[in-house]
Amino acid sequence: MKRILVTGAAGQIGSDLIVYLRDRYGKNNVLATDIREPAEEIKEEGPWEKLDVTDASNINRIIEDYEIDTIYHLAAILSARGEKNPQLAFKVNILGTYNVLEAGVKYELERIIIPSSIAVFGPETPKDNTPNETVLRPTTMYGITKVTGELLGNYYFKRFGVDVRGVRFPGIISWKTLPGGGTTDYAVEMFYYAVQGKKYTCFLREDTYLPMMYMPDAIRALVELAEAPVEKLKHHTDFNLSAMSFCPKELEKEIKKYIPEFEVEYKPDYRQEIADSWPRSIDDSAAREEWGWKPQYDLPLMVKDMLHNIGKKFGKDIV
Ligand SMILES: NC(=O)c1ccc[n+]([C@@H]2O[C@H](COP(=O)([O-])OP(=O)(O)OC[C@H]3O[C@@H](n4cnc5c(N)ncnc54)[C@H](O)[C@@H]3O)[C@@H](O)[C@H]2O)c1
Repeated sequence: MKRILVTGAAGQIGSDLIVYLRDRYGKNNVLATDIREPAEEIKEEGPWEKLDVTDASNINRIIEDYEIDTIYHLAAILSARGEKNPQLAFKVNILGTYNVLEAGVKYELERIIIPSSIAVFGPETPKDNTPNETVLRPTTMYGITKVTGELLGNYYFKRFGVDVRGVRFPGIISWKTLPGGGTTDYAVEMFYYAVQGKKYTCFLREDTYLPMMYMPDAIRALVELAEAPVEKLKHHTDFNLSAMSFCPKELEKEIKKYIPEFEVEYKPDYRQEIADSWPRSIDDSAAREEWGWKPQYDLPLMVKDMLHNIGKKFGKDIV
């Protein structure tokens, strides 16, 4: 892992991952790419190129130009956006992943990391403490593309020896970059409204439990899995991952400990159906056993850190 390419680097996870990887492996060894411009900080502090992952020839050119040996493939269309435009989600998520995997074979890449999602599960999957090996019959285009990505990754590992790895992320909460159109976005939006003294209208029912994770844990999970010795891994592309589970009402209550006047009303929209098809909590024992996964942030710690950082963005000293 000497020369790393990150696709979708301008997104919610990419914006944090790029900084972490550049600290760890050296600024000039981590190339940020996306179809859109990333934040100034990412462009200024290391190499950046525009890259559409549906364009295989450009992926190949970049791998050659920068002598890439590792890819973190983050470019994707997420759940809620994917339901608005399933054709685009199919193209970006499936063709993009295929192009990256094919490049893995062509250039004998050392490692490819592709985040999966709890969206691989569906209404028939057990909802509580969902096991790693279980029914994968998602009802969203996003979920279908994520199952496909997992299966393709495992296939490329067995068939071509490409070392593809991935975790099934729950909803990711962060303060640096806004989320890109997922069903758990409410859990980030709520903080911005609370800090600005605005009332928030939540698009999920107040009792909708979903698995969630704070960004520092998510980044650490990706890098720890990427660096784990391959002989320890029984799974490859499809590790369940868990940190906390809560519903919108519980998040509202935790935020109110710091901002008591904060108001939330609940008006579920089309995203409720997506949330209802996902697990409430996740069994991540395979990740714990095979590469030592352990989360650090629970709900109270995450809320405190989010309010501190989003408060600072708005010049407020909340925590
Ligand atoms: N954020 C979450 O809650 C969450 C949860 C589970 C899984 N994941 C997975 O993590 C990965 C990263 O997600 P994220 O939250 O950063 O998403 P995001 O939407 O914030 O970022 C995705 C990025 O991909 C880019 N992109 C879209 N089409 C592209 C194309 N054709 N070529 C190149 N780039 C393109 C977008 O411009 C965007 O910057 C995805 O694989 C996603 O499925 C995220």
